Amino acid sequence: MQKLEYPIRKYTALARQLEERGERVIYLNIGDPLKYDFSTPRELIEEAYRAMLEGHNYYASSDGLRELREAIAVKEKVWNGVNIRPSDVLVTSGVSEAINALFAALVDEGDEVLLPDPSYPLYINFSDFYGARKVFYAAREEEGWVPDVDDIRKKISPRTKMIVVNNPHNPTGAVYPAKVIKEILDVAAEYKVPVVSDEIYDALTFEGEFKSTAALASKDNVVIGLNGFSKTFLVTGWRLGYAYFLGPEEEISQIKAGVLNFLMTRLSAVTPLQVAIARFATRRPDFLEEVKRKMDERRRFASKRLNEIEGLSLPSAPKGAFYAFPRLELQVDDEEFARRLLVEEKVLVAYGSGFGPAGTGHIRLVYLPPIDELEEAFTRIERLTKRLKAS
Ligand SMILES: Cc1ncc(COP(=O)(O)O)c(C=O)c1O
Repeated sequence: MQKLEYPIRKYTALARQLEERGERVIYLNIGDPLKYDFSTPRELIEEAYRAMLEGHNYYASSDGLRELREAIAVKEKVWNGVNIRPSDVLVTSGVSEAINALFAALVDEGDEVLLPDPSYPLYINFSDFYGARKVFYAAREEEGWVPDVDDIRKKISPRTKMIVVNNPHNPTGAVYPAKVIKEILDVAAEYKVPVVSDEIYDALTFEGEFKSTAALASKDNVVIGLNGFSKTFLVTGWRLGYAYFLGPEEEISQIKAGVLNFLMTRLSAVTPLQVAIARFATRRPDFLEEVKRKMDERRRFASKRLNEIEGLSLPSAPKGAFYAFPRLELQVDDEEFARRLLVEEKVLVAYGSGFGPAGTGHIRLVYLPPIDELEEAFTRIERLTKRLKAS
C-alpha cells in the first residue's frame, strides 16, 4: 500500500487544517462538478427515492441489474454508436472499481501495461498494486497531447496485457481524432492486445469530435469500454459505472469471467441507484446542454487566462473533460509548487508528476468553479508565480 500515491487527494488534509485556522481555500483538485454550482437532475433523485420506496433495497446480482444493463446498451448505442448486448455489460461501483477489477483479472506480476503519459493516476496505482510494469507511451504536448501511435508500436512486447486509452483525456483535456484511435486499434489487433478505453467524459467534448473506440473497432479487436454516470449524470457520489466487452466471444468471455469473479466478492453495486439510473438513462439528457454550456464558458476563460499568467503556459488548450494541465515555466518542482500554492495562497491543485513522467513540471486544475471564483484562484496563482520569478 505504501507504493500507492494519489496526487489528487494527497494534500486535502493539509487544506482542511488551513480551513480550521480560518483560511479560505479554493479547491481546484477534484473533478467533481457537484462541489461547484452543478447539481444532480431532480428527476433522477426522485427516481432514486421512488426505487427505495418500492423496495429495491436488496443486494443486486454481481453483474448488475438486468434493466440497467439494458439501459446501458441503449445509451451506448444512442450516445456513441456502440453496439453491445446487455450481457456484454458489467455494472461496477464507479469506473474506479472497474479499473481495479480489470487489472485484477488481466495482469500478473511482471506483465506490462501500456499507459498514456500522462495518465489518470488510478491506472498507475493499480499497475503498481498488482505488480505490473508500467510502460508509458508518448502523447506530446505540442501536438495536443494526442497519443503517438509509433511509440505504442515500439513499446508493445509479448508481455503487454492491455493498451489503455482515455478519451476525452484526464488530465490534459485532449480529444483523440478518430484516425489516431483507428491506428491504435490496428496495432492492437496486429499484436492481439486488448484496448481498454476509458470514456467517462464522452459527452463532455467541447471542441473536436468524440469517437468511441468500440465504434471504430474491427472484428479482430478486443475492446473493453469503461464508462459511468459520475460526470455526465452529475452523480459522483452514487458510485456507479460499467465495463463492456467487445470482440471474439472466446476471448472476451474469459476476461469477463475474471472481472465478474472479482465483482462477486463485493456482492453488488448499490441497488436502488441502479434502478433509478436504468429508468433515467435512456431518456434524452436535456440537462446536459446547459451543463456543457457552463463548462465550456469556464474552459474558454481558463484556457485564455492561464496563458496570460507569467510563469505558466498552456500550449494545448483542453477540448474535453474539465481539466487544464498547464506547464510551469519556472525552476520549481511541481509538487513543491502545488504545496506552496496551498500553504501560501490557499489554492489546492494536483501536481503533474503524479500523473506520470510527462506530467513533471505541470499542474492539473479543475476549471469547474464559476468565473469569479476561477479569477480569484488565478490571481492567487499569479501572485505565487511572480514571487517565484522574482526570487
Ligand atoms: C479518466 C477517469 N476514469 C475514471 C474515473 C473514476 O470515476 P468514477 O469512479 O466516479 O466512475 C475518473 C474520475 O475522475 C476519471 O477521470
